[in-house]
Amino acid sequence: MATGPNFIFELRMNREPTAARHDAIGERPAPAGRDTTAVNRGRQDFTNVESVWLFGYGSLIYKVDFPFLERRRATIHGWSRRLWQGSHDHRGTPEQPGRVATLVPEQGAACTGMAYRVAPPAFEHIDRREKNGYLRFATTLDFGAGNASEGLVYIALEDNGAWLGCATEAQIARHIAAAAGPSGTNSDYLLRLAAALRELGADDPHVFAVEARLRRPLDVG
Ligand code: SIN
Repeated sequence: MATGPNFIFELRMNREPTAARHDAIGERPAPAGRDTTAVNRGRQDFTNVESVWLFGYGSLIYKVDFPFLERRRATIHGWSRRLWQGSHDHRGTPEQPGRVATLVPEQGAACTGMAYRVAPPAFEHIDRREKNGYLRFATTLDFGAGNASEGLVYIALEDNGAWLGCATEAQIARHIAAAAGPSGTNSDYLLRLAAALRELGADDPHVFAVEARLRRPLDVG
């Protein structure tokens, strides 16, 4: 396992009477509003924790604007990547939100992405970046070849204030083709995600189907 000598990973649940008690996937916190920054700050206790694995499955794969100690391809099990979360702050606006990735539970599914080992202060920035409805959950990261570690992942559950939900891949492509926000166009988000997944050797029929439609403008028009 790629855990260096300084690697301490023992995430404790914060015992404050907040959503922090529910930091494991499968335990449901109260519905999240649109800005989850403050809630996330209380969800895990990083006291004496030197580094933490963070699993990225969306823009965190290809837009790495935070310091990290190492990174590895990783998979989490029982979850599928879906473009069902609204982006009011990065790839859309409050008036016209974009569509970005979240994870939805699905038995037997596997989601491959990139895991970063980060020092806890990195969450100052990442919590703000992922504030639009995402909550931090603890889960097991599978690095392959029998190696695994506990880590964190940001997931936007369907009861958050920015949730857009299920739509056909054609509808999603049309939506993405029309949206843009402070971080750029929604198409750029999707095309970069598809390219990053290909580079990782990760198959994702949902993302690739939306990508294919976006690349055929007549289909999304
Ligand atoms: C992630 O990348 O892990 C979260 C979703 C996103 O920021 O696109």
